[in-house]
Amino acid sequence: MEQLVNLTTRDGVAVITIDNPPVNALSPGVPEGLIAALDAAEQDPSARAIVVIGGGRTFIAGADIKELELAASGRGSGPPDFHRILARIEDAGKPVVMAIHGTALGGGNEVAMAGHYRVAVPDAQIGQPEVNLGIIPGAEGTQRLPRLVGVAAAVDLCVSGKPIRAPEALKLGLIDRVIEGDLLNGALAFAREIADKGGPRRKTSELTDKLGSEFVDASIFAAGRDQARKTRRNMLAPLKVVDAIEAAVNLPFDEGCRKEREIFQECIASDQARALIHAFFAERAVSKIPDISKETAVYNIRQAAIIGAGTMGGGIAMACANAGIPVLLKEVEQAALDRGIATIKKNYDNSVKKGRFSPAVMDQRMALIHPQLTYEGFEQADLIIEAAFESMALKKSIFAEIDKIAKPDCVLASNTSTLDIDEIASVTSRPRMVIGLHFFSPANVMRLVEIVRGQATSKEVVATALAVSKKLGKVGVVVGNCRGFVGNRMMLPYMREAQFPVEEGATPEQVDRTLTNFGMAMGIFAVDDMAGVDVGYRVGQEYKHLEKPGVRTPRVLEKLFHLGRHGQKTGAGWYRYDENRKPVADPEVHALIENTAQEAGIERRQITEDEIIQRCLYIMINEGAKILEEGYALRAADIDVIYLTGYGFPAYRGGPMWYADTVGLKKVRDRIAEFGAQHGDFWQAAPLLDRLADEGETFAAWDSKQDRAREHAPALV
Ligand code: 3HC
Repeated sequence: MEQLVNLTTRDGVAVITIDNPPVNALSPGVPEGLIAALDAAEQDPSARAIVVIGGGRTFIAGADIKELELAASGRGSGPPDFHRILARIEDAGKPVVMAIHGTALGGGNEVAMAGHYRVAVPDAQIGQPEVNLGIIPGAEGTQRLPRLVGVAAAVDLCVSGKPIRAPEALKLGLIDRVIEGDLLNGALAFAREIADKGGPRRKTSELTDKLGSEFVDASIFAAGRDQARKTRRNMLAPLKVVDAIEAAVNLPFDEGCRKEREIFQECIASDQARALIHAFFAERAVSKIPDISKETAVYNIRQAAIIGAGTMGGGIAMACANAGIPVLLKEVEQAALDRGIATIKKNYDNSVKKGRFSPAVMDQRMALIHPQLTYEGFEQADLIIEAAFESMALKKSIFAEIDKIAKPDCVLASNTSTLDIDEIASVTSRPRMVIGLHFFSPANVMRLVEIVRGQATSKEVVATALAVSKKLGKVGVVVGNCRGFVGNRMMLPYMREAQFPVEEGATPEQVDRTLTNFGMAMGIFAVDDMAGVDVGYRVGQEYKHLEKPGVRTPRVLEKLFHLGRHGQKTGAGWYRYDENRKPVADPEVHALIENTAQEAGIERRQITEDEIIQRCLYIMINEGAKILEEGYALRAADIDVIYLTGYGFPAYRGGPMWYADTVGLKKVRDRIAEFGAQHGDFWQAAPLLDRLADEGETFAAWDSKQDRAREHAPALV
């Protein structure tokens, strides 16, 4: 108790401090410590009120997700039961004031709501993000929240999972005061005011005035379920959380809590919860690189510079400005520069119109972006990112030039999506300072950055790239320098294979529908049309030499290319597009496909959804296994993070490698062997997949073994 929860007294108020770094999660020992501290505070005659506060950088960030992980996988002693601690807080004989800074999330907010009052600093974030983990609030949050903020706001907070800041929480009635200045002093003053009024204790569980009625709330619940279906497609928890809030309206508090518990148990036992909890930890594990530690020096990035104001360069400039980093944005011609700046301004204007931030914030951000046609000021930059056209010759000439200008400790990054970072670095006098920062379009929105570590890249530069990614609000995943790196290398076989079921009997829209029903953000043919059929065709040509004689090649894409159907930008590709770029199935494409199949002597047949999913995903997973074994990704979980944050893979399936584990690697491998027998050499199980399948292992277990082994013998990516 002494370590996790501490008790002191300040001028007549007991102060209970939770001290469980890094985020004061409700790990075993914390609830027990809280109960013991409350007992002691109540017995202390000098204390007229009690303040509960978080030590370090935050209030309570929630239940301990490691405990939830154990419960989700059927290990451990089941999900934690917080009822006793919540009842103990609410029934305390002295008023309890919760003092919030940092975050009060999930179980953190649930503990706060059990207090009689809540105060918070202005930038504190409060919310119920459980749906992001595939669960619902399980510590009576669905019952107390609507009693404090009303049913509509509770539904919105729980379905969206988005936290709110203190001023909004105050408006909603979730907190009682915003404290400017020192939180503890403000909370103590508030507690004394309450004590002076005779110490009234307002029990949230007894409030009913904001609950409305079954009849009145019906439309709110219907709208909440619609919101859940739209924004959290195919997910269980966001729908279930509405059921739990409905119970708050229809049932007495205790019965509502029992209902919540039942639903919580159902959610935590789901594959979705397991996958999402995996995704949570995977995203945090990516920054753990064997030869990089907290002690590794990081370059301070105070000034960035970007070469190229096209879609990528402009997006990266916005990402920098959004994070408060001043950025020089260089183009070759005035017209291109003007276009780039106009696009940035249009994007910011749209955000202002949508109410995301004020015009003043937009002005601040625009002021951080300095458009220019020369390299003036680049000598001051701490980070230069080249975002020019994807041509090795061009990139080499740019790097040779910036090598002459940049200061010695400037990090030189390329935003290449496929090219060899070592070859680019070779034209500079400092390959150790060169790294790939592969942003995804639109770069101001997409969270993924593949950090491409070259042969010579120093660990300080890698650490800096990780730190910059975090500062930009992105997830940086360190990958090795192979063709297409990790994401695009796996995308290629996926795009290639998806075309064969179409030749054999499916339509592009059937394949796409199957993929989106599976949960992908977009179907592969819609992606191809968006990226450009011409791009897909050229990439395919580049890889042709890798194919062995006799290996089947897709035929339709090439024909679309030669017909000038280059995708959305030409109004037609795999689909036809109207003026709003809405895809429509095109009979001409169907006829083209059928003719192509006939010419090639392919007998068309019914293709099942299972076959489509297996062919599209297993080929991608197989490539992932090769990447892992070749060492271009550190962990299978890193590959998952890449696909979850950069390629629209459904988070509730955990990423491609996790998905393979859930199917069973033996099943995946055996199906790959069957496809090999039917479709030839391209389908050959990766040796790692083969081995793990034989051993009855999973990628997740392989990751853990590798992580343990690396702890003893650090190796580079
Ligand atoms: N349980 C266990 N560990 C947690 C945790 C939690 N609730 N929240 C964060 N951590 C760990 C992270 O894994 C990480 O560990 P590591 O250093 O070993 O990798 C460390 O704390 C720091 O986390 P971040 O790197 O994410 O730190 P940030 O400062 O970027 O973000 C945060 C802090 C906003 C609190 C973020 O960690 C977060 O969103 N955490 C999860 C919050 C959440 O979902 N809470 C609800 C939990 S479910 C629940 O409460 C159920 C209840 O209803 C019963």
